[in-house]
Amino acid sequence: MLNLVLFGPPGAGKGTQSEKLIQKYNLVHLSTGDLLRSQIAAGTELGMRAKQLMDQGLLVPDEVVIGMIDYKLRENQEAAGFIFDGFPRTVPQAQALDQLLAQYNTQITTMIALVVDDAELIRRLLKRGETSGRPDDRDETTARRRVSVYNSETAPVADYYNQQQKYIAVDGIGEIGEIFELICQNIETAVTKTA
Ligand code: AP5
Ligand code: MG
Repeated sequence: MLNLVLFGPPGAGKGTQSEKLIQKYNLVHLSTGDLLRSQIAAGTELGMRAKQLMDQGLLVPDEVVIGMIDYKLRENQEAAGFIFDGFPRTVPQAQALDQLLAQYNTQITTMIALVVDDAELIRRLLKRGETSGRPDDRDETTARRRVSVYNSETAPVADYYNQQQKYIAVDGIGEIGEIFELICQNIETAVTKTA
């Protein structure tokens, strides 16, 4: 199986690159942000509770997102692999993911981290906010809070994968197709190494 963590701060391009990667490698895309937004759209209790935190740019509790990933892994047992987008976002989430994958005798192949500076992130988020309707993209305070939550709570997840020699940083600034090519080259190197 090819199991990728696509990592990076809000606006780094995780969703954009995931769309291309799932086609090329025939993977199932698991974005906890998208899963939470579909709970909100469906008006579930989980969605309503998550929305209060998401709209402020804060993380939802670990057990909520771990539960969603557990469910999706069980639902997709025939998959060729997964791309985890926006998950894991805390070290306990990363530990839980390792345990869940072990139940299926598989593991994370590699983490690709998209590196983009804060000024560019804020520019991208506010630009998308003009048209996306995503409440957490609408104002600069919320966009900045998301970046600061990433720096304090999520950035340590990179060390977790680095300790497992699974961390690869890719420059996330530039043309989308060129970044995609760089990601693919790194995936292929990682696959060759683990084969
Ligand atoms: P989530 O949905 O994961 O959002 P995010 O991480 O904040 O990031 P985005 O989806 O905004 O950015 P992205 O990296 O996918 O970039 P994109 O490709 O869209 O999470 C939302 C919220 O849900 C969280 O704040 C939290 O509350 C909750 N949540 C989710 N997962 C959680 C978890 N595991 N634990 C706890 N809480 C969780 O690109 C951004 C923009 O830039 C787009 O407009 C795109 O067109 C543009 N763009 C992309 N690439 C380029 C490029 N190369 N050059 C110029 N523009 C580009
Ligand atoms: Mg996204």
